[in-house]
Amino acid sequence: MKHIKIFDTTLRDGEQTPRVNLNAKEKLRIAKQLESLGVDVIEAGFAAASPGDFSAIQLIAENIKNSTVTSLARAVKSDIEVAAEAIKKATKPRIHTFIATSPVHREFKLKMTKEEILKSVDEMVRYAKSFVEDVEFSAEDAMRTEKEYLVEVYETAIKAGATTINIPDTVGYRTPDEMYETIKYLKDNIKGIENIDISVHCHNDLGLAVANSIAAVEAGATQIECTVNGIGERAGNTSLEEVVMILKTRKDLFEGYTTNIDTKQIYPASKLVSLLTGVTTQPNKAIVGANAFSHESGIHQHGVLANPETYEIMKPETVGRNVDSLVLGKLSGKHAFIDKLNNLGLSGFDDKKIEQLFAEFKNLADRKKYVLDDDIISLVSGDAAEVVKGRLSLEQFEISRKDSKTKAEINILLDGEKEVSASYGSGPVDASYKAINRILNDNFVLEEYKLESITGDTDAQAQVVVIIEKNGKRYIGRAQSTDIVEASIKAYINALNRLYQN
Ligand code: KIV
Ligand code: ZN
Repeated sequence: MKHIKIFDTTLRDGEQTPRVNLNAKEKLRIAKQLESLGVDVIEAGFAAASPGDFSAIQLIAENIKNSTVTSLARAVKSDIEVAAEAIKKATKPRIHTFIATSPVHREFKLKMTKEEILKSVDEMVRYAKSFVEDVEFSAEDAMRTEKEYLVEVYETAIKAGATTINIPDTVGYRTPDEMYETIKYLKDNIKGIENIDISVHCHNDLGLAVANSIAAVEAGATQIECTVNGIGERAGNTSLEEVVMILKTRKDLFEGYTTNIDTKQIYPASKLVSLLTGVTTQPNKAIVGANAFSHESGIHQHGVLANPETYEIMKPETVGRNVDSLVLGKLSGKHAFIDKLNNLGLSGFDDKKIEQLFAEFKNLADRKKYVLDDDIISLVSGDAAEVVKGRLSLEQFEISRKDSKTKAEINILLDGEKEVSASYGSGPVDASYKAINRILNDNFVLEEYKLESITGDTDAQAQVVVIIEKNGKRYIGRAQSTDIVEASIKAYINALNRLYQN
């Protein structure tokens, strides 16, 4: 058996996706889903990057029991100390330290010689090792580094105590053949490599991150670094769901290869990450996209009805989609609701949480004839009814339209005081936001407004994500409702409450 470790970096490299900004509670919610998914390692953040990152890592380290929890740290003493402090309470702590090694990084970024870098690798891996047993070392931009020098770098790290060496394609430059060659070369030439894990970390700039990670596994890599939905810097990272399903679906090629992933948790994890980051997946995204298991052409539909294997290489249920045909509605009872949660892989809630979710479900069922699987996943993942408590709350609103002009009248409570405002706008959302802006008279900027429907009917729930910016900081607000204006106003208020919390 060849066990491939799944190292998830959704909360670190994934959080480096432009505009993504998660708070500690949201990060913990994702970390718990990653634990249910069965990932071996959760990279919870970069502790030295900010106090917010530090406390989120600490919170995750205290709450996650089954997965290793790691923090990234540059190969400098102060970063390693902060990382060690943040993961101190983890059941399985790891420090992940890195330094760049390629000529362009050595000359222009670090201004260090090859020898100086080797010295730093030796000293900093030893330093990390003085805090924890489990130390991962990455040579940033490894795939554009001279192969012979890489051997020296990784041999130094292993001698200093690294238990995993990570070989990143930081700029997503390589092709699968090149990846295979390099990993094979390193495997054959680095002394001591047989006793440690060989990891790869691929970026997707040329759309090859998944193919490169798989080529690396074929060459002997034992750990894949990846993110849910493939989110991450620039074009993103290797997509977790794709590599896992390649290894599972192509058993003929990967006989004996295993991962710890409970694939039924893939779809709920994908939904949760989309919801909390505001980064939705394209419809044709493999495994988790809206169309990944839809069959449009008549010939295909006919084939699938006769035998799903005609056009489906995986069963949607295997990745937690279309788990049963039971559609819930307002007459559904708590048992049916709990059954549905279990079938969707969304179990493990205490009685109080079930009561709260059931009440939210009933609320939704009052407004929507059929409550579909995606509604339930999104209700559970996003705590749809959650209102970000703060200075503002919505009392009521009214939209009217006359002579092609749309007017919004809004009543809100601001610091407990009732405020009434009205404004015209190019549409109901624009008018409502302008009415709120009149009350606040503040200089934040609305950077992004996104509205999507969770399911396809006219009574579908709208999911709105709003990002506002002030003084270089971004605040995200989300809300869901069957009424698109209500969802829009609540998302705006949630973002504003986050702004005023800080
Ligand atoms: O892309 C990269 O090289 C990284 C390292 C810090 C592992 O994210
Ligand atoms: Zn990266």
